[in-house]
Amino acid sequence: MDVKANEVMESIGTYAFDEVDKMRDNLKARGIDVIDFGVGDPLTPTPETIRDAIKKAIDKRKSSGYPRNAGTPEYLETIAAWHKFRFNVDVDPDTQIASSLGSKEAVFNFPLAFLNPGDVALAPNPGYPPYERGTLFAHGKPVLMNLEESNGFLPDFEKIDAQTAQKAKIMWLNYPNNPTTALATKPFFREAIDFCSDNEVILVSDEAYSEMYFDEKPISILELETEGIVAVNSLSKRSAMTGYRVGWLAGDERIIKKYKKLKANIDSGTATFIQDAATAALKDEAHVEKMRSEYREKRDIMLDAFKTIGLPESTPKSTFYIWQKVPENYTSVEFSKKLLDENIAVVTTPGSFLSSTVDGVNPGENFVRFALVPTIEMIRDAAERIRKLQI
Ligand SMILES: Cc1ncc(COP(=O)(O)O)c(C=O)c1O
Repeated sequence: MDVKANEVMESIGTYAFDEVDKMRDNLKARGIDVIDFGVGDPLTPTPETIRDAIKKAIDKRKSSGYPRNAGTPEYLETIAAWHKFRFNVDVDPDTQIASSLGSKEAVFNFPLAFLNPGDVALAPNPGYPPYERGTLFAHGKPVLMNLEESNGFLPDFEKIDAQTAQKAKIMWLNYPNNPTTALATKPFFREAIDFCSDNEVILVSDEAYSEMYFDEKPISILELETEGIVAVNSLSKRSAMTGYRVGWLAGDERIIKKYKKLKANIDSGTATFIQDAATAALKDEAHVEKMRSEYREKRDIMLDAFKTIGLPESTPKSTFYIWQKVPENYTSVEFSKKLLDENIAVVTTPGSFLSSTVDGVNPGENFVRFALVPTIEMIRDAAERIRKLQI
């Protein structure tokens, strides 16, 4: 029998990071000590308070049982309280919040609830791949909005033609932004909200990195409005809980209701003991503060090395990435490969792997992304190696 996937599966390439993984594995197979800045998955242990909470929760939740799909009441109430504390926003735990298996599940599945075949979802370019992939699997049409340095890595809504705007049903935004590290301003969010309400587009703000910043505190889109809007967030980055798979959506109750209906058909929710751990994590800000100062230290060590070898200034404002501009005579792949030289052996993601060519421009082309996920010792080692680089 010839095993064939459906047209969507056949039409898409491998997940971008498969390529990065291959490059890294080749070096490792040759016995080279690789320092991996490729994928945004921190090596930092999950904080002890959270690990303690889950140990206790496993005993408390002796009988397993299918978790309530929307989330446990404690988890939902804690999310609501956290929104009030962090953004001064009121969201009703029963009607305006839904639990999700990290934000990836929410992002990928969301279009299944809201798109009809051929409907458009507007997504940032470069951007987190599930915005586009989830749309394709829902038989929608992704239309990418370039994030260019000249526009502060914000999409230019004037470039969206009237026909596309008319067909659009979802717009994805992501600030703090992966990979460009840009932050959204209130006027920008207002512009996005106006565009979406004029065109009857659901606005989804992916705020997975809202707690990862250096100086300026990121805002949530929910501070401006909730009508027609949902924000997606997660404990993955804030509390180094990537493996726990726990996050949420919050916002317009009509959207949340439909999302919950979809979710009830897909899975049975995050394990209750993991929601307990997430509840404990959201009640503690000390570990988040500590994590921010660790990322600042890592960032500064790398920026110092980049300065020494004369790389263009690319200080990140947020997230745990550096969206480093490459030297003038390199493409992003060429510069990533240069860093893979066996004397350097530093793995990064070429910006062009994270973005597509739209209107003749690939906005990731002149950048490489460093995810500051190695340990501080490894970062020091990487910085020393990079200082030897001749460009
Ligand atoms: C922009 C963005 N959104 C969402 C996620 C998903 O994170 P999680 O599913 O672990 O919450 C990531 C992960 O890297 C991301 O970069």
